[in-house]
Parts: sequence; C-alpha cells; structure tokens
Amino acid sequence: MKDIYILGIESSCDETSMSIIKNGCIEIATTVLTQMDTHAKFGGVVPEIASRMHTENITMVLEDILNKANMKVEDMDAIAVTYAPGLLGGLLVGVEFAKVLSYVYNKPLIATHHIAGHIYANNLVEKLEFPLLALVVSGGHTELVLMEDDYKFKVIGKTLDDAAGECFDKVARVLGLPYPGGPNVEKLALEGEPTYDLPVPMTNNSLDFSFSGLKSAVVNLNHNETQRGNEVRKKDLARSFQDVAFEELVKKTKMAIETYNVKRVIMAGGVSASKALRTKMQDMCDELNVKLSVPPIKYCTDNAAMIACAAYPKFIKKEFVDLDLKAESQVDLFGE
Ligand code: KG4
Ligand code: ZN
Repeated sequence: MKDIYILGIESSCDETSMSIIKNGCIEIATTVLTQMDTHAKFGGVVPEIASRMHTENITMVLEDILNKANMKVEDMDAIAVTYAPGLLGGLLVGVEFAKVLSYVYNKPLIATHHIAGHIYANNLVEKLEFPLLALVVSGGHTELVLMEDDYKFKVIGKTLDDAAGECFDKVARVLGLPYPGGPNVEKLALEGEPTYDLPVPMTNNSLDFSFSGLKSAVVNLNHNETQRGNEVRKKDLARSFQDVAFEELVKKTKMAIETYNVKRVIMAGGVSASKALRTKMQDMCDELNVKLSVPPIKYCTDNAAMIACAAYPKFIKKEFVDLDLKAESQVDLFGE
C-alpha cells in the first residue's frame, strides 16, 4: 500500500501546532508553538488572547512544518484538525484554516476529537492493542476509557468536578508558582515530604473521581495558616497534595483493571507527563502484571502529532467530513 501522509492541526488551547505523520504512527515533522509565557502573566489561559495568537501564528507554523519535512501541502493525503473539545475561539482558527487547505488543495478533511488525539499519541511509540484501558488526565479531562477497538470508546469513570490538571494549576497558584502549574508543583514536591494530612476524595466504590475537596483543602489550609501568621511549608504541601491526587488516580485505575480484567493500560494527557505519576502507575501495573505504556513527555501535552495519528483510522475507513464542519467546545468522547 502507498504511504499515507496526514497533516494534523491542533489549536484547542494555548498551543498552535502542526504535524505530518506517515501511516498513522511515523513522525515526519512537528511544530508546537506555545503561548505559555504570554498566559503565564495572567496565571492561566486567556481565551481571547489565545485565539488571536493562533490567528497570528498559524500560517507561520504551516510554513515551518513544510520546510522541516521538505514537503508540500500537495503531498498530503488528508488534513486532520481538532474540532472539539476546547476553547471555541482557538478551535475555530484551526478548523477554518483546515477547511481552507482542504478546499484549496482538494484534500479530504478529517475531524479529530482532542481526547482521541491524546489516546492515539501512543501509536507514536507503540501501536494500541485492544482491548485496553486509557487513563486520560489533562487540564480539562480526567477519564477512564475502555477501548475494545479503534474508536470504540466507553467512558467507565470520570471526574465529577475538577479535572486533575485543573487542580494542579489551582494549587500552583495558591503556592505562588507560575502557570502551567503541574510541572512546577512536581518540581517543588520533589524537595518536600508528605507531612500535611489532606482529605482523600470520597468516591470509594465508584470509578469516578472527585478533586474539588482536595483542592479546597489546600486552598483553605494555605489561607488559614497565613491568617494565623504561620509559615506554610510549600514544598511539603506540594508533595502532600501530589501524593493524594496521584494515589487516587492509581487507585481508580487499579479498580478499573480488576473490574474489567484488562491486560493493557495507557496513560494520556498533560498530567501523565509527571514522572511521579508514571512511577506510581508503573509499580501498580507491575504488581498486577499488566502492561503500561505512556507516550514520551513531548507527546503527553498538546501537540498536533497526536491529532494526525488519531485521524489515520478514520482515513482508512474514509470517514471524511464536509466543509460545514463546526468547532465545538464540548463533545463527549461517546459521540465518536
Ligand atoms: O493535555 P494538556 O497539555 O492540555 C489539555 O488538554 O488540558 O494538559 C495540560 C495540563 C495542565 O493542567 C498542566 O498543569 C498538567 O497538564 N501537567 C502536569 C504536569 N505537566 C503538565 N500535571 C502534573 N504534573 C506534571 N508534570
Ligand atoms: Zn490536551
């Protein structure tokens, strides 16, 4: 069979990214232009600024990727774009840009769900083998997803309130750490001890998660100690918080493995970039004799390589979309 080249486009949050992927799993070139420094000044992503920056940068990113790959848009077999979920303004920029490329160069258009992208990032290291269990942990999502086959997603557990990454970002702000919170909390936690007693989320018998109580406990503890004029041991607080949050992720993943008797687990999304989480999850999987696979850190956070990877099964099935494709801020993975 002839080689298939897919150009992926991602702009759902604060990264403008494009990637060219061969046959659904071989990276030819990827560019990720992050706006992190700009948003860091505001302590989080400002949607209006994000969409304006996507508009300013997107043609530059295309030029860059084509130069790196030494290819032309004409060489592509399809254009894939994140259409949901995410910040609507950002998604719109990517979707409209993809439509223009599809129309002008007469290439099929593929609509990719962002979370499907995070899951399919694994194909860049190791082909997904079904059935599998995916723990998706990002800034907007915390979900346990069972997959029987390509695009057969069954969400068996999800957060009832905050996403894990969102919680890391909030705790980072409270601790005076810059955005994005996760990697900075991780760094601080490395130097701390888990000496603060924080509440374990109360969702014991279900596969759902809840992180808002834990987040509030950190916020309140910090506030009360500061009010009393006591010193907050930030390193210890970061470590205590991280330990409880990760224990919860590992505990529910273990419950899901045992309930559904799966043999393969993958982790996906920004929070799975954490070395501490990777180690804890690996230990648990070793204990249960289950194979764990996690994409390299650069493919855990938002990127377009994962979008092109996730588009490949759709290309094979010729699941293309028309130029009336709309960006949407909220679409369940169920909808796929
Ligand atoms: O997948 P992602 O890049 O964007 C979304 O789709 O949300 O995930 C970003 C999230 C942020 O909340 C960030 O704080 C978190 O992933 N994150 C981490 C780490 N690296 C990124 N959380 C904990 N530890 C990390 N090392
Ligand atoms: Zn993401």
